[in-house]
Parts: sequence; C-alpha cells; structure tokens
Amino acid sequence: QPVAFKEEDVDKGDFEYLMLKEIYEQPDVFERILKERLDDTFIHFPELKFGKEYLARVGRILIQACGTSLNAGMIGRMYLEQFAHISAETDYSSEWRYRNPLASGDSLVVGISQSGETADTLAGLREAKAKFMRVLSFLNNINSTMARESDAMISLMAGPEIGVASTKAFTAQVLNLLFFSLYVGSIKWLMPAEERRTVLDEIRALPDKMRTILKSHERIKEIAEFLKDKNDTIFLGRTYNYPSALEGALKLKEISYIHASGYAGGEFKHGPLALVSQNVPVVIIAPQGEIRTKMISNLKEAQSRGGKIISIITEGDEEIKRESDFYVEIPPCQESISPLLVAVPLQLLAYYTAIARGCDVDRPRNLAKSVTVE
Ligand code: G6P
Repeated sequence: QPVAFKEEDVDKGDFEYLMLKEIYEQPDVFERILKERLDDTFIHFPELKFGKEYLARVGRILIQACGTSLNAGMIGRMYLEQFAHISAETDYSSEWRYRNPLASGDSLVVGISQSGETADTLAGLREAKAKFMRVLSFLNNINSTMARESDAMISLMAGPEIGVASTKAFTAQVLNLLFFSLYVGSIKWLMPAEERRTVLDEIRALPDKMRTILKSHERIKEIAEFLKDKNDTIFLGRTYNYPSALEGALKLKEISYIHASGYAGGEFKHGPLALVSQNVPVVIIAPQGEIRTKMISNLKEAQSRGGKIISIITEGDEEIKRESDFYVEIPPCQESISPLLVAVPLQLLAYYTAIARGCDVDRPRNLAKSVTVE
C-alpha cells in the first residue's frame, strides 16, 4: 500500500512546494531514463519480460489507466500506431473494466500507473487476466500490487512523486511509451535508419529544451496573474497535443479549482465554442507542425467571440504571437515529440495560478495521490 507522507519528512530543497520541485526535476529524470534506455543506436528494456518474438506479433494494444496516466496513454496510443504499427485504443480503467472488452489472441493490455495501486486500474488488470489476455504495466512504483500481478512491467524511473498533481511521472510515462513504441518498431524493422536517428536525436535534446522552458517562469507568472480571477478556461489541441490539452486542463482544475476543460480543436465548433466570452480564456496549443494552421483557425474562432488567447508556440512564431494576448514559447522540435515539452509550461501555468489564488498545491482539496478505493 502507498505510504502516507508527513510533509515535514519530505525534503523540498529550495522549493516552496513539492510539486514545483518535481516539475523542475524533469530534465534530470529524462537524463536518467535516456542513460538507462538508450545507447548510440539501441533502445533497452532490461526489465521487460516479454521476448522480441512475442512483441513482434502483438496486433492490438488496449491501454487502460486513470487520470493523468490515461492522458499519457492517449499520447502513447499515437506513438504505437506511428512507430510500432500496432492498432491501439485507450479507455478509463473504470469504464474498461465494466465493459465487455473484446480481445483476440494477439491483443495486449497495457496498464499505466504512477502508484501501481489505483483500484480501477488494478481491477482492469485482473479483468484482463481473467479473460486470458496478457498484461504489461508501465509503473513508477515497481514494488506495487500491479507490478506483482502483471505479466511484464516497464519501470518509469521518475523517482518518488509525492505532490498529488502528477508532473514528472506524466512526462516519464510519455517518454517510456515513446521508447517502447520505437523499440517494438525496431524489432519489426519499420523505420528507415535515417528517420530513426532523427527521432532519437530529438529525444536526446529534450532535457536541455526542458531547462530552457523552465526559465520562462516569469512570463508564466504574468499569465497566472491574469488567469487567477477567472472561473472557466478552455484548452485546445489536436493530434499529439489533444491529450496535452486534457492534461493541461486537468492540472489547472486539480490545484487551482478553476473550471477547465480540454477539447480536440476540431470539436471546438461542435459545442465548446458556445462557452467562449471575454471571461473564458482559451489556451491554444500550437507548436510547429502539420496541425499548426488548424490551431490558428481555432484561435481566430475564439478571438472573434471575445475570448482571450493564451498560446503555447514554437520559438519565433511571430504570426501566433501577434494574435495572442499571452504566449509561452517552446524550443523547436518534431510535432510527435512536442507533448513532452508542451507539458512543462502547462504544469507551471497550473502551479503559478494556484499559488496566485492562495491554494495549497501539494494538498489539493478532496483529492488523493493514490485512489485505492472505488
Ligand atoms: C489520482 C491522482 C492523479 C493520478 C491518478 C491515477 O487521481 O491524483 O494524479 O493521475 O490518481 O494514479 P496512478 O497512480 O494510477 O497513476
């Protein structure tokens, strides 16, 4: 069972809150994972008990998780399709376990959990095993119940995460899912060497790019000052960054208690647009890539209804800067990798908004770090 912590026993270092410390740890966590998982050309999963022959035959992956872990899983799903050519689905564990999930012999169930103890995810795992499906779990706590009950396990290596709002575990989940997808892709010889090298170089550059983003905290504090008096916010993203929009909204509501919803940009016109007014700011996630122009359309839809725009953009994107009331820049990177960078300003935005509202970010009301009852 997860151990309850006493705040005085936990070293916050120079940080006011554990959550901020954990946000700032992310570049180091990434360096650690890179060191363990990647050498010049090969990806390693020494703890993974599944052989290459089995992994090459997996035809379908069913990802089940809760909260932030499911948002990571939604990004992982796209990596599995893109890099491993495996058809993948995601669902809340609490829904998945009560459906009648259909699976053929080549289906693998993937559970994702920071704690390894979440009641619904564990029940989903047991449901899968009862139906003779194999289970692979991505876990931060490798001494957990899920670790014991899974057929195979991948360690997230984020280090202990104590702040209730998950931050470094989320980015570690996404990175490990990315590595896993590339690993399976390499077993199946799917990627041309040059393309693979480019992606791995992008991954290697992530810790330093994260450090650059962490330096923009003053700009993010200014946005937080603007956001702190709002009651509602909307987060929009597409493809790889649709889950980023969900996660950005989840972080904000968890710790600042401002109502926040994330939507897929393409769905904006199908309802959420009706919410936009001068008092409902819209966070537009629009890094460089294929969906950038689509996000500009979303920006304009919101702007013309009086919505104030906060955009997350690639450095030097003057066009979106001009159209935004506030913006945060991330260093250039491939679109598929961008959720790993986009997460950082969204975490800081939630953090500083909560601080500006006087909230105790490490102990948000009504929430628990690990939900071990239904
Ligand atoms: C709780 C936590 C969230 C977490 C979720 C799933 O709601 O507050 O931060 O994402 O549980 O937890 P898990 O340990 O399974 O990742």
